[in-house]
Amino acid sequence: MDILVVGSGGREHALIKKLKESPSCGRIICAPGNGGISVDAEIADVKAVDIEGMVALAKRSKVGLAVIAPDDPLVMGMADAMEEAGIPAFGPSRLAARLEGSKLFAKNLMLKNNIPTAAFESFDDAEKAADYIRANTSWPIVIKADGLALGKGVLICQDEQEALQAIHEIMEERRFGSSGDKIVIEEFLTGPEVSVLCLTDGRTIRPLASSMDHKRVHTGDIGPNTGGMGTIAPNPFYTEEVADVCMERIFLPTLRAMEALGCPFKGCLYFGLMLTEKGPYVIEYNCRFGDPETQVVLPLLDGDLVELMLACRNGTLDQVSMAIKPGAAACVVMASGGYPGKYNTDLPISGLDAKGGCPGVTVIHAGTRREHERFYTAGGRVLGLVATGDDLREALLAAYAATTMVRFSGRHYRKDIGRKAVEAQ
Ligand code: AMP
Ligand code: GLY
Repeated sequence: MDILVVGSGGREHALIKKLKESPSCGRIICAPGNGGISVDAEIADVKAVDIEGMVALAKRSKVGLAVIAPDDPLVMGMADAMEEAGIPAFGPSRLAARLEGSKLFAKNLMLKNNIPTAAFESFDDAEKAADYIRANTSWPIVIKADGLALGKGVLICQDEQEALQAIHEIMEERRFGSSGDKIVIEEFLTGPEVSVLCLTDGRTIRPLASSMDHKRVHTGDIGPNTGGMGTIAPNPFYTEEVADVCMERIFLPTLRAMEALGCPFKGCLYFGLMLTEKGPYVIEYNCRFGDPETQVVLPLLDGDLVELMLACRNGTLDQVSMAIKPGAAACVVMASGGYPGKYNTDLPISGLDAKGGCPGVTVIHAGTRREHERFYTAGGRVLGLVATGDDLREALLAAYAATTMVRFSGRHYRKDIGRKAVEAQ
């Protein structure tokens, strides 16, 4: 079966590598892709948010499956458009993607269904939000833009002045455009964070290996938030006991609530959880595979990803077997100097072979360009150096060994990926 993968980052590269392991995988076309992906798949020059263009490409290429990986095309309804054109799609419908596309939709769903989440209030009026802040006595407080904001729409405010400034920026200066028409103000929670990516057909849900992201840009968990500077799996805080509680109180109730609303969620549902003293709470839902979580979770999946994705779409996930492999995986992200702020591109990368790989690790390309079998930087997050091992230490050792080989001017990466996880063990 020929497959179209929509997207251009590390997540898409990791998905393509896993899809290619399946005996039923034929040609893979990726749009718009990147330099490293062009080694593993055919590249087509269609933007990820170009719904008409992407449907036309899928039809022209006669693919049997379209895997829509990023959030924005899903929230815009690309899965619905593919299905209407007769192309089986992996990814939730526009209505189901609201779990990520609207924080207020997600919060109301949790509130109504007793799914544990931070207490909140919502506002569509900046003055009323400001009044609420002036009356608040417990700090810090969390302010979230309702819509998609490239992962930057969550502001943790330490005092009244910061919170008023956040409301001003989101609702009046419209820093995130119409995504900030409404905001959610919520209680600040504490505890270890866990990402759990699950495959689901709307009724059956199959968690993949749990993982831990490292969102802050610098070693020691300091600096601004990024898309993710590295990941490890499995997450040692996510014990079997915690997993059982999450299944009963969070995962199944979420699926049932979506089904009851008439928009069952089919695809990859990502639960961003915080393990608080009162038990696991939902911080956020994502309607897609996480990045860089996917880079560590898929190497630990013992299963046929093509078959699993089709089963999610067809409602037959209960009939497909999958398991989580023993051992651990680690991913260290190499980023461009300046990321997550302004950064340069087009810098030559050394230490990669002609196929974009490096001995001892799987090199996942997140933001690269290829020219005459050489690779150049083309994004903020450039590469993910991914390794597996019998345990987390072994995986980390291998991933970090590759950081000495793969270089480009101004590169930076965190030196402490997995440190908290190793200490917790
Ligand atoms: P998000 O963009 O939703 O992934 O949020 C980014 C990060 O903000 C999360 O990974 C948490 O570390 C933090 N965060 C979000 N909501 C809360 C909350 N209610 N309490 C504490 N931290 C939060
Ligand atoms: N790494 C976090 C995300 O994919 O949203």
